[in-house]
Amino acid sequence: MNFTEALEAALNRQRPSAEWLVPLLEAQGEEEHRLFCAADSLRSEQMGQAVHLRGLVEFSNHCRKNCRYCGLRRENLKLSRYRLTRQEIVEAAVWAEQIGYKTVVLQSGEDLYYSADSMADIIREIKSRTELAITLSLGERDEITYSRWKEAGADRYLLRIETTDEKIFRNVHPDDELHQRKQCLLVLKELGYQLGSGILVGLPGQDAWSLAGDVVWMHKLGVEMIGIGPFIPHPETPLKHERGGTLSQALRLVAVLRLVFPFAHIPATTAMGSLDPSGREKALQAGANVMMPNITPARVRQLYELYPNKICLDEDAGHCYACAASRIASLNRTIGTDRGDVVKAPRCRSPRDGAP
Ligand code: SAM
Ligand code: SF4
Ligand code: FES
Repeated sequence: MNFTEALEAALNRQRPSAEWLVPLLEAQGEEEHRLFCAADSLRSEQMGQAVHLRGLVEFSNHCRKNCRYCGLRRENLKLSRYRLTRQEIVEAAVWAEQIGYKTVVLQSGEDLYYSADSMADIIREIKSRTELAITLSLGERDEITYSRWKEAGADRYLLRIETTDEKIFRNVHPDDELHQRKQCLLVLKELGYQLGSGILVGLPGQDAWSLAGDVVWMHKLGVEMIGIGPFIPHPETPLKHERGGTLSQALRLVAVLRLVFPFAHIPATTAMGSLDPSGREKALQAGANVMMPNITPARVRQLYELYPNKICLDEDAGHCYACAASRIASLNRTIGTDRGDVVKAPRCRSPRDGAP
């Protein structure tokens, strides 16, 4: 299928298949521009001009895992490790609400120091002191733990699948099984979390066909938030000599995802802003509608070093909020005034789709 036919298939809401996803994911030049424009128009039509801000607290850089792309992997002995106390996490959330955030994202390495119960206490305290929506991004845990956190008041969970290609997944995740990660996402969905997943773009061996498989899989799962990060090689990891992902690859995937998931929340991610000072603005013009500024206390920010040249390491939470606000205003967009929960709009399908 050529690019024009593929874009037409997307705009007609055909069921996603590699046949039309691949030509879009490989678009270059003028065609790439047309892809971004189509995604931006659909975002504007379905999600409006609001950009939702989620304040990100990176509360621990301890990790039991050894993902081969990540600077927090347990074998990176050069990294000084930190944990925020319950009080520090809660205070960061309370401050976030005072600055203007409606959502706080609590993220960490896979750190069992924060047990099911201790994390539930933190969630409950934030819920009792604020009106914030709480998103968790704490990796793979068991069903009882996920359910305890849901009962405590957590609203959303982000767990990127990273890749659905079995071979690539195994190569970069020495501790993980793809089916296990998929199972975690199914459990989270059944428990009633607003469900986020996503892809790391530019992993060794990944191509447009592999990314198309990821899109098809996320569509079947019915994810509601989708985070796309270009992989940025970290010098203290086994993948340090890899090329990594490019901003263009990541932007094309964002645009394709907007076309496939008109109502999803799709962030302009920090990794995009780290590859290009305007990376996040470019994503917001290619289908994205969310930003996740950092609200981690400044004294530990440098230590959440997933990849080199990460932005926002020396700023404080107030500065990042103001910075994000001005970037949004520069695009004539507005800051979302509600919590930005998932949109459960009915999916309209074209008669050509053939879906029952
Ligand atoms: N530990 C949890 C997990 O893995 O889901 C949450 C924190 S983890 C640091 C959050 C995300 O960081 C991962 O899903 C991964 O996609 C991203 N990440 C890790 N290393 C990266 C790198 N070198 N470049 C870009 N993104 C990276
Ligand atoms: Fe740990 Fe998450 Fe990094 Fe993997 S990606 S090493 S689980 S922090
Ligand atoms: Fe942190 Fe711009 S968002 S300095």
